[in-house]
Amino acid sequence: MTNLSVRVNKITQEACDIKSFELLSASGEALPAFAPGAHIDVRLGEGVIRQYSLCNGPDETDRYLIAVKKETASRGGSLAMHERIREGDLITISSPRNHFPLEQSGGPYLLLAAGIGVTPILAMARHLLAADARFELHYFTRSIAHTAFQALLSGAGFAGHVQFHYGLEPDGLRAYLEQLLSVYPKNSALYLCGPRVFMDLVESAAAASWPPEAVHLEYFNAEPQSRDAEHVSFEVRLERSGGTYLIPPDMTIVEVLAQHGIHIETSCEQGVCGTCLTAVLEGIPDHKDVYLTAAEKKSCDKIMPCVSRAKSGLLVLDL
Ligand code: FES
Repeated sequence: MTNLSVRVNKITQEACDIKSFELLSASGEALPAFAPGAHIDVRLGEGVIRQYSLCNGPDETDRYLIAVKKETASRGGSLAMHERIREGDLITISSPRNHFPLEQSGGPYLLLAAGIGVTPILAMARHLLAADARFELHYFTRSIAHTAFQALLSGAGFAGHVQFHYGLEPDGLRAYLEQLLSVYPKNSALYLCGPRVFMDLVESAAAASWPPEAVHLEYFNAEPQSRDAEHVSFEVRLERSGGTYLIPPDMTIVEVLAQHGIHIETSCEQGVCGTCLTAVLEGIPDHKDVYLTAAEKKSCDKIMPCVSRAKSGLLVLDL
């Protein structure tokens, strides 16, 4: 992953709690290309790295566009973006990575976004529009004032593709999703992004009719983990470098290994981004991440050590 220096060219208030940030290459060289669904890491100071999806369209190669919601329970990332970053600032980002690619299924495509989950979905919608593909975007928000990119998505290009849904309560949302997803049109692909409760509702509404391989989703944060409430200690042995370490209930594998000078590269530290992926050679992981698929979790040969723990007393890692 390459680090890039970019200049914040323009900050726009897109909704009452969402700002977009247009980033241009600081050196003037072209920015690396990306596909819809990609995200970048933004470095916001010592130890604060956050992932934001790119909302650009495929025709824009001279800039990256990200949008950030100001979270009331911010761990520092969204607050820094909203209150510290100014137009003209230079910031460091990673080159784009994509764990949420838009597959060429031929469509039709059904895109579902809730709140700030619209960011990767917007990049997909722009791409599908440019490709003249069949798609529908349903965008769920609290109100029009909370709807980022409302004017863009109401404009001529997207007309006929986008439906806005304002202020649906959970029961109404569930009923709407069940009706929307009651039929699986052949070769369709469903892409969704939003808060956990929204994703859970969509997944359960889709489960009756949609095959799992047609449903693609991206979490933008994990469930908050209790630090030690239900955790037990376990041991980690490092196969290649040697050494066995006790992981106490209130520390992660990454934290304990760092104390012993063994640094696993991390980014989100929430089990979302995939940066810390480590192979497991023995033992049974207790997966706490939202990055690995259900099948990958079942195979027990990988772990995200920034959040995940062990069900067995010992885990042997390929480190
Ligand atoms: S650092 Fe992101 S998943 Fe572990």
